[in-house]
Amino acid sequence: MEITTEGDLMEKIVTLCKRRGFVFQSSEIYGGFNGFWDYGPYGVAMKKAIEQLWWSEMVEKRDNVVGLDSTIICHPKVWKASGHIDRFGDIMCDCRDCKARHRVDQMPDPKVCPVCGSTNLTPPREFNLMMKTYVGPVFDDEHVAYLRAETCQPIFVDFHLIRIATRMQLPFGIAQIGKSFRNEITPRMFTFRSREFSQMEMEFFCSEEQSMEWYRFWKEARYNYYRNLLEFREDEIQFHDHDKLAHYAKAAVDIEFKFPFGWGELEGIHHRGTWDMSRHQEFSCQNLEYFDPATGKKYLPTVVETSVGLDRTFLAVLSHAYDEQKAPTKKEGIDEDLRIVLHIPPRIAPVQVAVLPLSKKLNDKAAALQKDLWNFYRTELDLTGNIGKRYRRQDEIGTPYCVTYDFESDNDNAVTVRDRDSMEQERVSLSNLRAYLDKKVFGY
Ligand code: GAP
Repeated sequence: MEITTEGDLMEKIVTLCKRRGFVFQSSEIYGGFNGFWDYGPYGVAMKKAIEQLWWSEMVEKRDNVVGLDSTIICHPKVWKASGHIDRFGDIMCDCRDCKARHRVDQMPDPKVCPVCGSTNLTPPREFNLMMKTYVGPVFDDEHVAYLRAETCQPIFVDFHLIRIATRMQLPFGIAQIGKSFRNEITPRMFTFRSREFSQMEMEFFCSEEQSMEWYRFWKEARYNYYRNLLEFREDEIQFHDHDKLAHYAKAAVDIEFKFPFGWGELEGIHHRGTWDMSRHQEFSCQNLEYFDPATGKKYLPTVVETSVGLDRTFLAVLSHAYDEQKAPTKKEGIDEDLRIVLHIPPRIAPVQVAVLPLSKKLNDKAAALQKDLWNFYRTELDLTGNIGKRYRRQDEIGTPYCVTYDFESDNDNAVTVRDRDSMEQERVSLSNLRAYLDKKVFGY
């Protein structure tokens, strides 16, 4: 099988995502809205599966991490304390000649426009990335509020309530998945840099003495998650230590993924020291110290954070999964010579098992089989077109297993299961189908 690499992979992914209803521009009929993306039926199925996998690995399967679902809009003082209102921005300048806008720290020469070479530039100005809104009926400065720019701040703010309610003792973590908003000046690379996106963050509270040990623990745990559960290859992910550290941080590292456009940050693992807790203590005038019953000491917890974008994970999965193959087997009776296939790990595939009746006469029996299977897997009943075309359709959305119900099925109580990656077909008895698929989809 020949693998074709011509053409721009990113463009192919974007095109497939729109054509098959994974992701497309928000408000498309109005020309789209830059930096905002909608997830269609297959997209939302895979997004929710990734979210659930992260939640199960980071919260449900741990006895030292608990969950939170906070509001998107919190008291404006939260963002004053966190530093977002005063410092969360990019220094930008505009070219007066070609009207291009640039981030000054990304310009090879800050005095020269990298697009047209002009030196006729506006003085550098700071653009704050926080999205503003108003709460209440009056639209004035007193009623300004902000959409959260990261999901972690409400975790710091709620730390004490959660600790008391759960009777958790340090070290323990609080995790949250939710929307964040940033008024990115240059949203780009499909969903990679969006203005509205989802984050999956976990803040781990511990003592200062233990913090580096936990930092190393989470760094390793998160790397293994990508390798073992999302099945990223060793050459697709790497660590990138931060060159500059915030004054309060002891360490910070990014896990980068090799996207079609190059290496990009997927997740940050940050030692945040006591910075956030001390700022919220100062601005709220509340004592946020932790009393350690073992030592009798009171101290502000040190925080180690793991922070990943859900949309970037989604894009990384698609970049990893996308494959084009020429010359499909004659066996499948297809004459087109291009097979697009997404090698998505079965546990997060939008459709895990598709049921395909071989003839219209078998539609009802196939539908009954699907209704049985949908209690256990994400399923689809694919009725139209010849069987080869249906296989191709399922390949394109990454369905790992197609179950064909044929005229023999009534006699031998068996179906044919076709594997997306090997394209091998196996006859499996209906009584053994669940056990067979469980092993394939979940590995047990
Ligand atoms: N609480 C720490 C924090 O928010 P960050 O490095 O700014 O750190 C964490 O963001 C993760 O959120 C990034 O690694 C990335 O996956 C995702 N992210 C950040 N900005 C994004 C954007 N504009 N669009 C999509 N994802 C973004």
